[in-house]
Amino acid sequence: MKYVHIVDEIIRQIEEGLLKPGHKLPSIRALSKEFACSKNTVIRAYQELESKHLIYSVPKSGYYVVDNHRFRLSHSTENKKIDFLSAGPDRHVMPFRDFQHCINQAIETYKHEMFVYSEPQGLYSLREQLVQYLRNNQVFTTPERICVVSGSQQALNLFVSLPFPNGKHKICVEQPTHASFIESIQVHQTASIGIEITGKGIDLKRLEEIFKRGDVKFFYTVSRFHNPTGYSYTNTQKRKIVELAQKYDVYIIEDDYMGDLDLNLKHDPMFAYDPSGRVIYTKSFSKVMLPGLRLGLAVIPDAIRERFLQAKFAQDLHSPVLTQGALEIYLKSGMFDAHIHKMRLMYSKKAALLQQAYRDHLPSIVSFSKSLSGFYSTIALPEPLKAKQLIQLLEQENVYIDDASKMFLPEFAKDNVLRLSISQVEEELIDRGIQKIANGINKLMLKKRQIYSFRWT
Ligand SMILES: Cc1ncc(COP(=O)(O)O)c(C=O)c1O
Repeated sequence: MKYVHIVDEIIRQIEEGLLKPGHKLPSIRALSKEFACSKNTVIRAYQELESKHLIYSVPKSGYYVVDNHRFRLSHSTENKKIDFLSAGPDRHVMPFRDFQHCINQAIETYKHEMFVYSEPQGLYSLREQLVQYLRNNQVFTTPERICVVSGSQQALNLFVSLPFPNGKHKICVEQPTHASFIESIQVHQTASIGIEITGKGIDLKRLEEIFKRGDVKFFYTVSRFHNPTGYSYTNTQKRKIVELAQKYDVYIIEDDYMGDLDLNLKHDPMFAYDPSGRVIYTKSFSKVMLPGLRLGLAVIPDAIRERFLQAKFAQDLHSPVLTQGALEIYLKSGMFDAHIHKMRLMYSKKAALLQQAYRDHLPSIVSFSKSLSGFYSTIALPEPLKAKQLIQLLEQENVYIDDASKMFLPEFAKDNVLRLSISQVEEELIDRGIQKIANGINKLMLKKRQIYSFRWT
């Protein structure tokens, strides 16, 4: 019964504070369009909500949310969970309903094609759409060089496992980097060389030394909104890294998973500095859209293409076709561009609030990263504090954060770094969350000082 679905959705929005007391509800016509149902279904849903005293109607004006004491209590931000831990996109803005239309449309348009075996490289018609999408991001390529993958992690994992045309064996990787890439290196027991990434990027002299040493198959880099530090390279740094890769015959795997969130359209991906195949570009549709789709892409050089497709075929034959067909329609209809536009504004606003809160509350001995958008940033605690201690303390305050220790290779291990994601934190809770983190740090510092002074007296 569709009206129940509408009732549930509106109650959820009231419970989560998205619809506030006094807020006017959408018109019957708008809602019937949104839920693809008749006006009578919406009227029935509104009557049901009225009978529950959750909304009221004003003749000739519309329906409004009641100032409900029960919900007001649950909305007080005082003890609300603050989730800096979850790393998926903000679930309030995931485009479920638009994507649902695209899935229906894909079945209508392609019929049985959506349910039979397909090409390992991905639907050709989707790859044509991806060419246009990539062009807007300064990645100029052809459908023949694109491979649709089951999440960009699949492409990264295959690159770790495959031999490369330069005949080299080691992987150079920023330290820290996101945990699933570290997992991949460990699963394949691949020799790796770490290079530290800080608030200024990487030491390019050190990178040159590593490349020069001679056995580097590829340098894996997250060029924008790095996970976990949030760092984005400047164009000058990106150009220099590409030059070094060319000079020493090293490939670059450029993971541009959240590149669409960049507000500065003059920022180039590394791919733009060498589209010949030296830079292999990967993109995820998880962070900015729907992670459960498991869809990503890689732009692969001819020299690796066949080997890569063979390995992809051996792993899963091809990525699911239905979601590929729906993504094609989502891109073609302009829904993706409209969605990204919203995401860009939302995450840059959240990032600005976070930076302000860091400056306002964190003690000066704490260092933090300064990202302008994206989800992630890190806080490095001063000696002798450990990330795990603070995490435990904050859980009692209903604040959740991640410890970055699994994002380091063993030789770079650090236990004082926290990773924060702002994707799931409501704007009005960011400041309060950082204030609680700052209080926690101060509390632990005080405790340590007391222990030390006790030992010395
Ligand atoms: C930097 C980075 N690249 C790639 C991935 C994998 O994304 P996908 O969901 O497309 O496999 C992640 C996931 O967390 C990530 O953080």
